[in-house]
Amino acid sequence: MAKNLIIYYSRKGENSVNGSVETLAKGNTETCAEFIQKAVGGDLFQIETVKEYAADYYACMDEAKAEMQQKARPELKKYLDSIDAYDNVFICGPCWWGPFPMAIYSQIERLDFHGKKVMTLVTHESSGLGRCERDVKRICEGATFGKGLAVHGADAPRSEKAVSEWAKSQV
Ligand SMILES: Cc1cc2nc3c(=O)[nH]c(=O)nc-3n(C[C@H](O)[C@H](O)[C@H](O)COP(=O)(O)O)c2cc1C
Repeated sequence: MAKNLIIYYSRKGENSVNGSVETLAKGNTETCAEFIQKAVGGDLFQIETVKEYAADYYACMDEAKAEMQQKARPELKKYLDSIDAYDNVFICGPCWWGPFPMAIYSQIERLDFHGKKVMTLVTHESSGLGRCERDVKRICEGATFGKGLAVHGADAPRSEKAVSEWAKSQV
């Protein structure tokens, strides 16, 4: 049976929810990553940075913008060294100023994707897939690519049906 891996970054704390700032106990992408696992099975790998981003929404926006402009590759608490054991890889994260948070690139640039099928899931407030899927296709050399899915972050808790149907259609 094909083996699935779900790599994700997600940030708790203050975030923009339909135009106002709210505190999220669980990140939107984490919610979606768990829906994927529930639908198709597989292992979850959470990307966590050594230096946490600010819990304050506006401070985090500034940090994220600076990292993006510097093309930073923030250090992670732990890295996946190999994805040899997997056939399908879901790469999931929020849209931060267009691309994914730089921490996602810190991880995926280290992996060999040859022969894997890769799907991108992005949660966002208005940008859809932004630059995220394009970046994934550029970085994950040698992979084949399924269809990307954009989920409106504020609707993540109510997106199980859409995420589950999409995940099942990709593996
Ligand atoms: C630093 C930062 C930058 C963001 N930039 C964008 C953006 O460019 N476009 C967009 O639609 N949403 C943007 N958002 C909103 C997030 O993409 C959205 O809330 C997402 O669902 C958060 O996922 P998470 O809870 O898993 O971290 C941004 C949020 C943060 C904190």
